[in-house]
Amino acid sequence: MSSAHPLIAEFQRAGQAQVFAFFDELAPDAQQHLLAEAAEIDLAEIDRLNRTLVAQTGAAAGVNLSGLAPAPYEPLIAHGGDALAWERAKRAGEDALRAGRVAAFTVAGGQGTRLGYDGPKGTFPVTPFLGKTLFQVFAEKLLAAGRRYGRPLHWFIMTSHQNHAATEAFFREHHFFGCDTTRVHFFRQGRMPAVDFSGKILLEAKGSIALSPDGHGGSLRALDRSGALDLMEREGIDTLSYFQVDNPLVRAIDPAFIGWHLLRGSEMSSKMVPKAYAEEKLGHFCAQNGRLVVVEYSDLPMTMQREINASGQLRYRAGSIALHLLDREFIRRMARSDGSVVALPFHRADKKIPAIDAAGQPVKPSKANGVKFELFVFDALPFAQNPLVIETSRADDFSPVKNAEGVDSPQTCRDDQRRQFARWLNAQGVALATDATGLPAINLEVAPSFGYDEDSFAESWARLSVRPTLADGLVLT
Ligand code: UD1
Repeated sequence: MSSAHPLIAEFQRAGQAQVFAFFDELAPDAQQHLLAEAAEIDLAEIDRLNRTLVAQTGAAAGVNLSGLAPAPYEPLIAHGGDALAWERAKRAGEDALRAGRVAAFTVAGGQGTRLGYDGPKGTFPVTPFLGKTLFQVFAEKLLAAGRRYGRPLHWFIMTSHQNHAATEAFFREHHFFGCDTTRVHFFRQGRMPAVDFSGKILLEAKGSIALSPDGHGGSLRALDRSGALDLMEREGIDTLSYFQVDNPLVRAIDPAFIGWHLLRGSEMSSKMVPKAYAEEKLGHFCAQNGRLVVVEYSDLPMTMQREINASGQLRYRAGSIALHLLDREFIRRMARSDGSVVALPFHRADKKIPAIDAAGQPVKPSKANGVKFELFVFDALPFAQNPLVIETSRADDFSPVKNAEGVDSPQTCRDDQRRQFARWLNAQGVALATDATGLPAINLEVAPSFGYDEDSFAESWARLSVRPTLADGLVLT
């Protein structure tokens, strides 16, 4: 094997010579490709992860649960929250939006394997009647919010190497859904190599390393690297509204949430919903030694997830729906912490990783054959000043499309959207027949340009000179 190249020599010294085992067989451009991939890898980081995560098994590898308690949160008014404080927060958030201090951020770099959909997840059709895609719903919500506050919003979209080109092409094909192209910014997240259980970096082919997205926590470094933070600074934006690509119900721009975050001087704030049942697969907001942390559903023992408090509620009921507000300079600090190594911890995920063996033959693993490393954005919470959790109503913020069928599927999401539209109409005094779950009998869809939350809907409704008839169905645009 050629070891003339300094990068190859570095990999050899790090005990990762297998990455270049087939280098001499490759055509020159394939060699360049492999070298470019190898250059993305921080060997010292991989070495550290091999020692701390891969070599550890059993209790040592588990999540530290000592001193864990449920996290405090600001309850909704309906659950005992302070009505005046919520009103103050909403007004402060509206002021910040009118001052152009807020931008939107969608993490869309995931692989969407559970949904079984071929293509960037944001291109999946989700609305109940018109079949608009996730990206179109977000675009229209952000456009409408920008118009409402007189300040068009910047929108950052994090993609992966796999779906970047397809995502950009989709936006171009649809003329950015009417958004100002200079305000929509795509950037790729970073990648991490997968390793086998002895810490050796895996090849997916002779000329390419098994690389995968570095998790949504990679967004903090990617925001910095891509220049997004500098752009925010130039534009006077200090607050980023973070949401996942899988959740069309989201209040992508929520004045009350923004106001709570700003009035508390919080560097990172999150929304919670009370878990619907103990086994629900949500991360849990917890307090640990004076810090706010999220403990994933897979890491919190089921006995704890089932604990009941004195009021008969789940003790660990604060479920994370992955909605956060982040302060720009906090992101910068996290992205650059400790020089080259980010302070967020990597998580280990044992996966079936398509790879080649030492003879260069492809292996199709039937069980996990290696480890992927991922960063989670909520791991930034313990580093934030004055972190804050507020409660939100699930029906108005959270109905993700994760699975092809059953819970969190396209069907449950369409139904939740129809229930929301029906509630908005009912709030305007329209007698709309629904079943016991609030699902209307008629076809119903409200375009975000007409209403993207209860307030904006009420404003548009009041402006209608002729009230629409509801006989067969209703599409409000
Ligand atoms: C996630 C949260 C969970 C939360 C739930 C709410 C984690 C580990 N868990 O679970 O706490 O209760 O959402 O819906 O996050 N993404 C990237 N790049 C990546 C990986 C993911 O951009 O490398 C994006 C995806 O495109 C998606 C989001 O992050 O928008 C969530 O990813 P996913 O893996 O589906 O998270 P869940 O396991 O559903």
